[in-house]
Amino acid sequence: MSLDRFVSLWPEQGSHYAEQVDWLVIGFTGMMALFVVPVFVFLWIFVFRYRRGRAALRDHRPDGSLKVEITWMLLPFIGALVLFVYSARLFFEARTPPADALEIQVTAKQWMWKFQHHGGQREINTLHVPAERAVKLTMISEDVIHSLFLPSLRVKQDVLPGRYTQMWFQAERPGTYDLYCAEYCGTDHAAMGARLVVLSPSDYQRWLEGAGDAPSLAAQGEALFRQFGCSGCHAVASVTRAPPLQGLYGRSVALADGSRVVADDAYLRDSILLPQKQVVAGYAPVMPTYTHVMDEEAVARLVAYIRSLADTPPDPSPPHTEDPQ
Ligand code: CUA
Repeated sequence: MSLDRFVSLWPEQGSHYAEQVDWLVIGFTGMMALFVVPVFVFLWIFVFRYRRGRAALRDHRPDGSLKVEITWMLLPFIGALVLFVYSARLFFEARTPPADALEIQVTAKQWMWKFQHHGGQREINTLHVPAERAVKLTMISEDVIHSLFLPSLRVKQDVLPGRYTQMWFQAERPGTYDLYCAEYCGTDHAAMGARLVVLSPSDYQRWLEGAGDAPSLAAQGEALFRQFGCSGCHAVASVTRAPPLQGLYGRSVALADGSRVVADDAYLRDSILLPQKQVVAGYAPVMPTYTHVMDEEAVARLVAYIRSLADTPPDPSPPHTEDPQ
C-alpha cells in the first residue's frame, strides 16, 4: 500500500471527464488567485509605505479612474462567463448518458452495494465494468439515502429510497478504483465502501462468461412474473383484463385522471409497488400492491423483463398505448 493512498494531493484521473472536472477546478482556483493575490500584495505594500509617521508623499491622491473601474469589473465578468459555459457543458454531459451505454442496476442498503448486470450476473461490493465503454447506473435504495461516489471518475449521485436516480461514466484505463458511500447513512456508513474493477474489453468479456451462466436479468424477471402471478392478469391470453405489457416500454400511456406518462423504468416500478398511483385509463384500480412483497432487486428484474417486451407488437384491442409523441 503506497503512501499516496493516504496523502494524495492530486487524486487519480480515471476518465476524460475527470480531467475536464480538474481543469474546471484549476480554472476557478487560478482565477481566484489572479484577483486575490494582487489585492493582498498591494495591501501590504501600502500598509508599509503609507503607515503613520512615514514621510511619504501624500499629495495628488487620485480621485478615481473610470478605466480602472471598467477593467476590474469587465475582466472578472468575462472570466466568470468562460467558466460558466465550460461548467454548464460538463454539467449537461454528466446528466446525458449515451444511448448505447452499458446498463447496470444498483441497489443500496444498510450497508452494502448490490449490482445486477444485464446478463443476470450479480455482485456485492465489487463492480466489474469494461474500460472505454459508457456505463449507466440506475440506482435505488432499500432504506435510507445513500450516495454512490467514484472519486477517481469525479462522479457522485445520491441513491434514494422510492425513486430511481441515474449516473454514468466511462473509465479509460483498466484498474481498481475506490467506490464510497458519500451520504451519512447510519452506524456502518464509513464501512460502506466497494471496489470498481475496470477491465479491458476482452477481460470483461471473459469475466462475464466466468461469472456463471445465470439467466439474463429479463429472464429472471420473467420467472418472477410467473411466480408472483402477474401473468394471471397481464399475459396476452389472460381472462382478467389488465393493461398488456407488450410494446409498452418507452410509450406514452393515457391515465385515468386524463394525464399522460411515458412508460419508463420509474413508471414501471411505481406501477408494481404503488399500482393505485397512476391507473391506466380504461382499467379498474384492482391491482394489489407489491410494496412489502418484492424488494427493489426483484422489481428491477421485473422492469428488465417488461423492457424486453418493448419490441413485441402491442395487443391491438385495449386502448392503453399510443405511439410515442
Ligand atoms: Cu450508505 Cu452512507
